[in-house]
Amino acid sequence: MGRWLVLGGTRFLSAAVAEAALGRGHEVVCAARGASGPVPEGATLVPVDRDEPEALDPLRGERFDAVVDVATMSLPWVHDALDALGATAGHWTFVSSISVYADPGPVGQGVDAPLLPPREAAHGRSAADDPDAYGAIKVASENAVRDAVGDRAFVVRAGLICGSGDRSDRFGYWPQRFARGGRAVVPDDPGQPAQIVDVRDLADWIVRAGEDGLTGTFDGSGPRTTLGALLDEVAAAVGAPDLERVPVTPETLTAAGVTPWSGPRSLPLWLPPTHRGMTAHDTSAAAAAGLRCRPIAETARDSLAHEHALGPDRPRVAGLTPEDEELLLS
Ligand SMILES: NC(=O)c1ccc[n+]([C@@H]2O[C@H](COP(=O)([O-])OP(=O)(O)OC[C@H]3O[C@@H](n4cnc5c(N)ncnc54)[C@H](OP(=O)(O)O)[C@@H]3O)[C@@H](O)[C@H]2O)c1
Repeated sequence: MGRWLVLGGTRFLSAAVAEAALGRGHEVVCAARGASGPVPEGATLVPVDRDEPEALDPLRGERFDAVVDVATMSLPWVHDALDALGATAGHWTFVSSISVYADPGPVGQGVDAPLLPPREAAHGRSAADDPDAYGAIKVASENAVRDAVGDRAFVVRAGLICGSGDRSDRFGYWPQRFARGGRAVVPDDPGQPAQIVDVRDLADWIVRAGEDGLTGTFDGSGPRTTLGALLDEVAAAVGAPDLERVPVTPETLTAAGVTPWSGPRSLPLWLPPTHRGMTAHDTSAAAAAGLRCRPIAETARDSLAHEHALGPDRPRVAGLTPEDEELLLS
């Protein structure tokens, strides 16, 4: 069994990776502040604050069979990790994003599609707080990983990660809304592409990739489906008996100030025509390389349990409030 280092490990994907690695018998060290929560039972936390330049010095030169870095939006964090651990790591996973692509419109893009220009300009050590820079910083981060450990690098451009632990409220909006029942507004665009990946499936793939020494760059998401089919599956899995889905046209939604995808007063997973490629990647290479995806119904049930744990009446960062929805329906 191997020795794993997860840079993170206290929430969502990186916690799921730590848990999956433990489940497969590995020794797991997590390096994080611990501000987001505890590490999974059985893992060891090395407290580090990656905003500090020497943060990873306690781990420098240690030998890990596999390192997993989820640095979201900080190129200095990526460089520091490579500098401290790249020479001795057996395998290196960098979690990137499908936001690296220059044009989110085309359907069926794969890893060879044009990328955003890398953003290497200094933005300070801390994660940038400019969401527009996200994809370009990921491109620069991927390049840094390939330059330093390209022979051992597994770069996963994740799609929309869903399931237990997600705090973005994007996928989770739908299971909680359908479970509440009554008349629920849905975008009248059932043929729009949709694509998600369950956090545990992605984590499991990352761990098996580390074990097998899988290298290369992949779009890490589930199979392509449509918004209509995805919502059907969620409704069948967790919908209340009195649920009635009320399709509202994109024009009406836009006129009423409802925004696509995420944010307050939004309908999550709904995309404008300019962004449909975001949930329509060709993920056949990932499937062939071992990414196994569970049915959406299972992700919906887990997301609902997570929603119940968070409390259904909490302020949400994405979706419609009951009042917004009432206004639309009237
Ligand atoms: N969510 C999606 O749908 C989606 C889609 C595509 C790609 N991605 C990518 O997937 C990855 C998601 O990672 P994740 O689920 O583990 O969540 P995350 O929110 O990126 O957190 C990752 C870890 O970073 C640690 N961290 C934050 N600030 C830190 C600091 N100053 N020093 C040390 N550690 C710090 C956190 O621990 P502490 O707070 O305890 O320090 C946490 O364990 C990211 O790379 C993201 O870009 C996500």
